Amino acid sequence: MRNRGRRPQVAALEKAANATWQSLSAGTASMPKDIILDMDPGVDDALALMLACGSAELRIRAVTTVSGNAHVDKTSINTLKVLEWIGVSGIPVAKGMAKPLSRNLETSEDFHGADGLGDTNLPSPKLKLDPRQAVDLLIQEAQNNPKMLTIIATGPLTNIATVLQRDPSFAENVKELVIMGGAYNVTPYGYGNMTPVAEFNIYADPEAAKVTFNSGVPITAVGLDITTDPTATLTKELYEKLEESSSPRARLGATVTKRLMSQYGFVHLHDPMAVAVVADPSLVTTKKYHVDVETVSDLTRGQTVTDRREWLPDSYKRPPNVNVCTRIDGQRFLHMFIERMTST
Ligand code: BDR
Ligand code: CA
Repeated sequence: MRNRGRRPQVAALEKAANATWQSLSAGTASMPKDIILDMDPGVDDALALMLACGSAELRIRAVTTVSGNAHVDKTSINTLKVLEWIGVSGIPVAKGMAKPLSRNLETSEDFHGADGLGDTNLPSPKLKLDPRQAVDLLIQEAQNNPKMLTIIATGPLTNIATVLQRDPSFAENVKELVIMGGAYNVTPYGYGNMTPVAEFNIYADPEAAKVTFNSGVPITAVGLDITTDPTATLTKELYEKLEESSSPRARLGATVTKRLMSQYGFVHLHDPMAVAVVADPSLVTTKKYHVDVETVSDLTRGQTVTDRREWLPDSYKRPPNVNVCTRIDGQRFLHMFIERMTST
């Protein structure tokens, strides 16, 4: 966690949000996008899930869970806890892979709390998991809905890579895979958080990321380059808006981020930003690059190596495989986040 946020310019934020809502209520909004969230809740995954639930542009077909911030047993229960707390039922939640493709699991409870949700200790959920394994659910959904599904992956890419290994047609069946992961060196903030060069989700399972990046699936990457941009960071002032709200999403959002907010004085909204980008792609500028993932070196494990050599003759260039987000409209994103979390 770095880069304390600047104060938001409230008037500009309100104007942008009004314009968005006016266009929605004027009927200019298109059909909701069918999405599956693949996640490891995790404080910011919980925020992402709640933001998705509050976004009319998105229809959540399922949530699949993976080990990352905590073991998948915990991230699965956490998903149910969040949905139950905000009163959402009827979304299948399927448990996924318990450990990375070929490494030991290293979780992040020191950051996300012993329960993975900021030490909030929410009650055990009554909601139950879907009987399907996450990988089976993802394969089935993609086969049954070719070119319809957007997958938003905000944890290590273990489920996605396993799906691609079992069913290579997944790469063509999926409309888009939007990931929160990587650091692409395309903004002043595009360096690692787990190591100087590696972002947590890619570091956690670099082999899975390599399989995914080289599969041909259309990828948009929301990396640290934009998620740690200070203009897009949850400040104390904005946090207080969550705390003061009567909306269940906002109140739970404040509860799960309380510990990080008091520890750091700000919270990076990594995973909610991936959801926001799917709901409103105009929030970001993107550029296509060839990106590969380091899996051999200990020093640079999980680095997303971005080929930015524009001067390279075309005959030497490898085709772009990742649509990398290079700029975020931080103020508009923050306003959208707060507005949707606090709406009842
Ligand atoms: C990513 O790592 C996790 O800890 C967060 O949930 C987010 O997905 C940020 O590097
Ligand atoms: Ca996550």
